[in-house]
Amino acid sequence: MQNMVAEIERLKKEKNAVILAHFYEDGDIQDIADYVGDSFYLAKMGQKSKADVILLAGVVFMAESVKILNPSKKVLVPDLNAGCSLVNGAPFEKYKAWRELHSDAVAVTYINSSAEVKAISDVIVTSSNADQILSAIPLNRKILFGPDQHLGRFLSKKYNRPMELWPGSCEVHVLFNWKRLMELMAINPDAVVIAHPECEQEILQHAQVIGSTSRLLEEVAQNPAKKFIIATEMGIFHQMKKLRPDAELIQAPIEDGRCNCNNCPYMKMNTMEKILKALQNLSPQVNLAEGLRRQAQVSLDRMMSITNNQMVTWPDQFIYTSPN
Ligand code: 13P
Ligand code: SF4
Repeated sequence: MQNMVAEIERLKKEKNAVILAHFYEDGDIQDIADYVGDSFYLAKMGQKSKADVILLAGVVFMAESVKILNPSKKVLVPDLNAGCSLVNGAPFEKYKAWRELHSDAVAVTYINSSAEVKAISDVIVTSSNADQILSAIPLNRKILFGPDQHLGRFLSKKYNRPMELWPGSCEVHVLFNWKRLMELMAINPDAVVIAHPECEQEILQHAQVIGSTSRLLEEVAQNPAKKFIIATEMGIFHQMKKLRPDAELIQAPIEDGRCNCNNCPYMKMNTMEKILKALQNLSPQVNLAEGLRRQAQVSLDRMMSITNNQMVTWPDQFIYTSPN
């Protein structure tokens, strides 16, 4: 492992490469990354990067977002099969038909979506900037939210704004079981419950803090409590343990009760070996047809503008134009 880390470091210098890693990656991958963060942070760092090569240790939609925002770079992923159930559950043709059915609405789309779906959306959100994005949408506009129904439902209630929701979900976050969570809370009454908004509402209603991976990490770092029950993917525990070695961190229980061990199978496809190989071969790369990339950039740019406190305009009507 020591040799592999040294070789990755050497290749990073030789190829002028940076590694961006999501919090759900294994600890060894997070430790060799130049930047570790949530999906919004990774998109921002990827957009700003001056490196020639950007290796995204996360899932493919995250690498696509970087490519859309910073197209002149070589964007690598350790494994092109690292998908996401939200992306898989929102196929383009079906999503477009739904979008066309509500053509007067503002299409607010979670970053966990394909480039094609981003290209027919008005604005992208992540779980860390959704508050800011929603506040920027005029109150008289109808909202279409997808593909994550649980994040959408949570935001709709929080802001008292009706939304049309796409029925997608994260296969990892829906596994948490509320009955078993209540049992765990009963034996740990001193624990602070925190949850990612991709969880079902039965879980979210018990959480004292609901937020993105970075918000949950911030809570563990700042809250003086000594015990936390955490309803999100296990990878985040790596940074949490570093920041709070004194605290007891318990993952919320999942359905079948065998363990508290909820991992994203896509994030976990990435390994140190695959990262090394990708840097050696400058492959696999994420590439998009230029027409599609430009169309998808519109909704990502709107997200970036709003988060930079810039004014944006909203189209009145959705009219589909094929990028080719
Ligand atoms: P974050 O934006 O909170 O990092 O979430 C991304 C994700 O895929 C959660 O499952
Ligand atoms: Fe997708 Fe869920 Fe994995 Fe996040 S945790 S990448 S939403 S499958």
